[in-house]
Amino acid sequence: MALTDFDLVLFGGSGDLAMRKLLPAMYARDVAKDLPPTARIICVGRQDCGQEEFLRTVESTSRPHIKSPAVTAEAWARFTARIVYVSLSATDVDSYLPLVSALRTDPALTRVYYLATPPHLFSQICDNLAANDLVTPNSRVVLEKPLGRDLASAKQINAEVGKVFAESQIYRIDHYLGKETVQNLLALRFGNILFEPLWRREWISDVQITIAEKLGVGNRMGYYDTSGALRDMLQNHLLQLLCIVAMEPPTSIAPDAVRDAKLQVLRSLKKFTPTTLAQNIVRGQYRAGHVDGKAVPSYRDEPDAPEQSRTETFVAMKAEIDTWRWAGVPFYLRTGKRMADSLAEIVVRFKHIPHSIFHQPTSSFQPNSLVIRLQPDEGLRMNLMAKTPGDGMRLKPAELELDFRESFKSPRMDAYERLLLDVLRGQLTLFMRGDELEAAWEWVEPILNNWEQDDTMPIPYAAGTWGPAAASALIGRDGLQWREEALPED
Ligand code: BG6
Repeated sequence: MALTDFDLVLFGGSGDLAMRKLLPAMYARDVAKDLPPTARIICVGRQDCGQEEFLRTVESTSRPHIKSPAVTAEAWARFTARIVYVSLSATDVDSYLPLVSALRTDPALTRVYYLATPPHLFSQICDNLAANDLVTPNSRVVLEKPLGRDLASAKQINAEVGKVFAESQIYRIDHYLGKETVQNLLALRFGNILFEPLWRREWISDVQITIAEKLGVGNRMGYYDTSGALRDMLQNHLLQLLCIVAMEPPTSIAPDAVRDAKLQVLRSLKKFTPTTLAQNIVRGQYRAGHVDGKAVPSYRDEPDAPEQSRTETFVAMKAEIDTWRWAGVPFYLRTGKRMADSLAEIVVRFKHIPHSIFHQPTSSFQPNSLVIRLQPDEGLRMNLMAKTPGDGMRLKPAELELDFRESFKSPRMDAYERLLLDVLRGQLTLFMRGDELEAAWEWVEPILNNWEQDDTMPIPYAAGTWGPAAASALIGRDGLQWREEALPED
């Protein structure tokens, strides 16, 4: 669907996200000829630098983040001609005049206000836009995470933004929903007859969802230390992945059909009590170690880290969903910084065969599993048992692999490219609804409260490992292993 002409306003326009992700994403779409010729990107920042200086910053800070297609002088000139820099103070209603003059007034034009700012500014920015009469029926607002830090703050954001924008105009971004493989999971589940009959407690033994990063906290300590892995990754990205895996078939791909189905999952998550959470959640914090052979410091020795920080950089948990489809099936969720590898994957493991007709005990049959790889190499892997060639009947594990890059040669799209296009087209399916956001916080909140009152430290783990041994013990108690632990040695 072609885009109609738009003004995209980036609050936080000189910030890290705009420079690293948003402008490169818009550049890629410009080169792909998706953007109408007169569409513009209005970058809003506090700094009173002029247009020229801002464009120099874009050149030095954002351009190096454009991986492909290679930047040509002509394409770059066309792209930067779309950029307008506006300086204002987000909290000062009178300072919005330059934005008022920069915006085009044609009511048919799509206006998108992308708030890549700290969440405490959301409400004031919305009020100030309204006070300056800048919210047209064709306006949309995009909210970047963190969308609150607990249920109360999330409710407050929803209520305050909701005074200015209707729910149908609000796009809450979770960039994991923009990843190619997440949508492929929808295709796999609902575009094939094969899996749906098996996608339930009778046939599935457990599900593992891992997002592991080799990266540490880098220069984001100010934000990260007040957040931690639970708020930064689990409350949003991991729970969204869990929803896509576990939801009932939506009636269509329409926004509310999908979001209703996800909401049902969030509301069916078994609540933790102080006892069950102590048994089923492990939190860790990295210590010095080696990542890719390079020595890296302990979390507490990273620049600006509080000396006695109790912030978790790793969390693993066993969650359960109280529905007919999933009762009793453990969902193991895990995320961490400074881990042994950078990967994001979902592993759906099926049950053991009930009986062996071969001269091999049932225990020698590796249960089938489906591995859905989000990154680094996007694809699906189905593990089966197959006969080894030659005489006799010996069965061994074998793999069916679908590598998305190999199978589909079409050009790739980064998550932000896809999500920005969706906002500009007015497609809400891949964005969270307000009630989903609140349900996710509501489920996470008892864990946050418990940790706040608990003055014990997260369990230390060496950087470059898969986290504390307690995480292996957590899944080991159920007679299972994390996928990398179960893989044969090379
Ligand atoms: C962000 C988190 O939402 O996701 C970061 O704030 C994390 O801490 C990032 O590094 C991971 O995203 P991706 O797409 O690189 O896996």
